[in-house]
Amino acid sequence: MSQVSSSMNERAERTEREVTKVVPSMPTSDGAGVRLNRSLGTAALPMVDPFLMLDEFRSDDPDDYLAGFPDHPHRGFETVTYMLAGEMQHRDSAGNSGLLVGGGAQWMTAGRGLVHSEMPKQKDGLMWGFQLWVNLPRAEKMKAPRYQDLAPEQIPEVEIRGAKVRVVAGEVEGTRGPVQGIAVEPTMLDIALKPGARFTQLLPAKHGAFLYVFVGAAQVGPADGVRVPRGAAAVLGEGDSVTIEADAEEGARVLLLAARPLNEPVARYGPFVMSTKQEIQQAIADFQAGRLG
Ligand code: FE2
Repeated sequence: MSQVSSSMNERAERTEREVTKVVPSMPTSDGAGVRLNRSLGTAALPMVDPFLMLDEFRSDDPDDYLAGFPDHPHRGFETVTYMLAGEMQHRDSAGNSGLLVGGGAQWMTAGRGLVHSEMPKQKDGLMWGFQLWVNLPRAEKMKAPRYQDLAPEQIPEVEIRGAKVRVVAGEVEGTRGPVQGIAVEPTMLDIALKPGARFTQLLPAKHGAFLYVFVGAAQVGPADGVRVPRGAAAVLGEGDSVTIEADAEEGARVLLLAARPLNEPVARYGPFVMSTKQEIQQAIADFQAGRLG
C-alpha cells in the first residue's frame, strides 16, 4: 500500500494534465457546402484559448467537398490547414497561391485581412484534413498577412517507442517544428500510436491545450486516463505533461494542440475575430468597401 501511495505522489509532482472535458465533434457544413466535423468552435466547446475552431473534413465522395471554399475574407486571427490526403489549391487577393498536398500544412496569419479561396484540386478520391483557427493577440490583429507553407518533407517526424510524431510546431525530444514566429508559441503534433503504445509529451504548464482523436481511440491523462473515441476532442487541464495511450486493438492517431492563452476579450463574427463589436463592424465595412483585397 505504501508503494502505491508513493508512486501516486510522484505522479502529482509531475503535474500530469487531466482531461477536463470530452466533446464529440458535430457534423456541419461550411464554405460552399463542404461537409465537415467541428469539435472546437461549437456551443458545446466555444474555444480553448487561444484556439477558436477545429474542423476535420474526411470524405471520398466528391459531392461532400468539390464545392470547396470559394472567395471569403478573414481578419484578426490565423488559419492552419493540415492535409492528410488529397490536394487543395489556395489563392488570395494579393496574388499568393499554393498547393496543399497530403502531409503538408499551411499556417496563415490573416492579420489585418485578405480574401482567399481554398478549393479541392482533385475530382475524386479521399480528401482528408483539418482546419484550425488560432487567435492573434489584440496588438497583432492588424499586422500584415503572412504565410508559412510547409511541404510534407519539411515537417519532421520523430519515432519514440511505438509513437510516430510529426512536429508541425513546438518541440518533441529536441526536434523543432518548422512553424516559427507565432506569438502564442504553439505546439501542434500529429501523433500516430501503435495499438497499446503509451506516449508522454511535455507542454508548458500554463498553455491552453486540447487534443483530437482522428483514428482509433485513446486513454488520456494520469493512471488509466479518460477514454477519448475517434471524432472527439479532449480539453486538458493545467500541468506540464500529457500522457496518451492508444487503444489496444485499434491504435490511435491524435492531433495535440497547445499554446499560450491570450486572456483577452473575443468578438467573433463569421470569418472575423476581433476584440470588440466595433472592430467587427469595422472589419465588415472594410470588406464591403473592398479594403481586404
Ligand atoms: Fe479561409
